[in-house]
Amino acid sequence: MSQLIVENLSIHYSKGVKALDNVSLAVNKGECVGIVGESGSGKSTLAKVLLGLQPYKEGYIAFEGNQIVPKKKEALREYRRQVQMVFQDANSTLNPKLPIWKSVLEPLDNFKEVQPSFLNREEASRKDLAKALLKMVGLDAHMLERFPVELSGGQKQRVSIARALSLEPGLLICDEPTASLDVTVQKQILQLLKGLQEKTEMTILFISHDIRAVTFLCNQIIVLKDGLVVDWFPLEELYHEDRHPYTKALIKAASF
Ligand SMILES: Nc1ncnc2c1ncn2[C@@H]1O[C@H](COP(=O)(O)OP(=O)(O)OP(=O)(O)O)[C@@H](O)[C@H]1O
Ligand SMILES: [Mg+2]
Repeated sequence: MSQLIVENLSIHYSKGVKALDNVSLAVNKGECVGIVGESGSGKSTLAKVLLGLQPYKEGYIAFEGNQIVPKKKEALREYRRQVQMVFQDANSTLNPKLPIWKSVLEPLDNFKEVQPSFLNREEASRKDLAKALLKMVGLDAHMLERFPVELSGGQKQRVSIARALSLEPGLLICDEPTASLDVTVQKQILQLLKGLQEKTEMTILFISHDIRAVTFLCNQIIVLKDGLVVDWFPLEELYHEDRHPYTKALIKAASF
């Protein structure tokens, strides 16, 4: 059974703006699925709906067999633990007034009942927990006392990933997590995500306008255009001649 199921999801923002048009997809546990499309194709809208941040009237969404209904608060709380998000702009995730160690522990503070398997909470001090999380994303302990303004863009994005990992989510949704970083740092973050995905059972939904990033990381690729799923294929079929013309254009533009 698929971990995440989306059926016939449509989102109309206002008259004339159909951000998602009858979108259906299914994601299996442990897969890394890329959603690629140009600006305005509906990628962030899909992420927001999947996180329960954007209500929907048309369609059906289920995670691990349970339908996601935005208004049911208790069910949503458990869902929000299971499904974590990394945004394009780490500045929107990190509180500028908090040192990194406090920022990284915020999700665990909100879900005190969670005992992540990689941390021995009984013995560890709070700073030890933060240190272990930073280590998972390749950051040194001397970052603990720093403030977001004292970190580079790539380091801030690593902290956002550490925060998201702290609750051991079943599904990690990344919306353009590397778009505001320079090329070398982009690659490092993609490598970090790839390594984390291989180590854990976590499913990743990776949203990007960059088909190169998507093909580096993902084993399934879904192409979104004007709110429609126009193509959906496993990575090994990237160059199949029956790819949608739009997918072919994306590949050509990326000059593989
Ligand atoms: N809150 C909103 N109200 C009205 N229209 C919106 C809203 N958010 C997005 N839209 C519109 O919905 C469409 C899809 O937007 P969305 O942000 O999902 O695209 P995207 O694929 O994430 O684009 P980008 O790559 O630029 O981030 C666009 O036409 C956008 O203008
Ligand atoms: Mg977007």
